[in-house]
Amino acid sequence: MKQFLSVHDVQDIDALIQRALSYKADPWKDQHLGKNKRVGLLFLNPSLRTRLSTQIAARYLGMEVIVFNVDKEGWALEFEEGAIMSGNTSEHVKDAAPILGKYFDILCIRTFPTLVNKEEDYSELYIRQFAKYAGVPVVSLESATLHPLQSLTDLITMHEFWPNSKARPKVVLTWAPHVKPLPQCVANSFAQWVNAWGKADFVITHPEDYELDESFTRGAYITYDQDEALRNADFVYVKNWSTYRDYGKIYSNDPAWMLTEDKLSLTRNARVMHCLPVRRNVELSDEILDGPHSIVTHQAANRIWAAQAVLSEILQHM
Ligand code: CP
Repeated sequence: MKQFLSVHDVQDIDALIQRALSYKADPWKDQHLGKNKRVGLLFLNPSLRTRLSTQIAARYLGMEVIVFNVDKEGWALEFEEGAIMSGNTSEHVKDAAPILGKYFDILCIRTFPTLVNKEEDYSELYIRQFAKYAGVPVVSLESATLHPLQSLTDLITMHEFWPNSKARPKVVLTWAPHVKPLPQCVANSFAQWVNAWGKADFVITHPEDYELDESFTRGAYITYDQDEALRNADFVYVKNWSTYRDYGKIYSNDPAWMLTEDKLSLTRNARVMHCLPVRRNVELSDEILDGPHSIVTHQAANRIWAAQAVLSEILQHM
């Protein structure tokens, strides 16, 4: 693996899941793989899980880790080619990224979308500019349209709760209300990975006008009827996203879309997943989050093994 920006950088998803689970069983087994190697974690946006799990994963591999909060401590970066930098940006990524490539062996970057400029966001301008100019492998810690480390974690988690079975689980991605416009990254990425994995009957449900980009969802059955989607589900992945077509808007905040125990009774005792952070009693009810069906903590803990699997794959090919 030369970079990790999406599922397209993965040759064998099942092998990567197995690699992650092998680290879960024995975290220190490759502690010499990253000896004398340094990873930089650059955050242009906030994080709890991604930041900490990736640091832990890198340390299990014996790497030195440096975290840099670009948004708070760095110069304001310019990403546009040919920009006349007479505005608020102080340093071009063309100048910053090659320097970071000299400081680090692997560069991990978190950058959220603007939710204003759809073309810029969906071209993945920021992370692709880093990948273009850094000269070292780049790992996405969530980008404008995707969150591949989260999605790998999600598949690892579903695999654990559905092991070695010949039957295909029914996996439902359901939209949930939220108080502010959120990126489509987690939903796009989950759809992209579940479709590429090909081991589930995959259903997406959301209100009208919340369609995601088809390039990620193609292969899923999509319905506006949440009850229909939930019927006989084995996994329910809850997530809010803002509108894609009329970009970055909130069209609906209907609380009826929040998952409750009553709705969960339609499922086959489904496990409930969420990438976190979650707005309690807006996106997901207390009764679900604190109840026996929620596997969100288990899921978040698996972020370490997903990160370790990806970093180790890159280290092995350096
Ligand atoms: N799920 C996730 O990426 O969490 P953080 O934003 O806390 O990293």
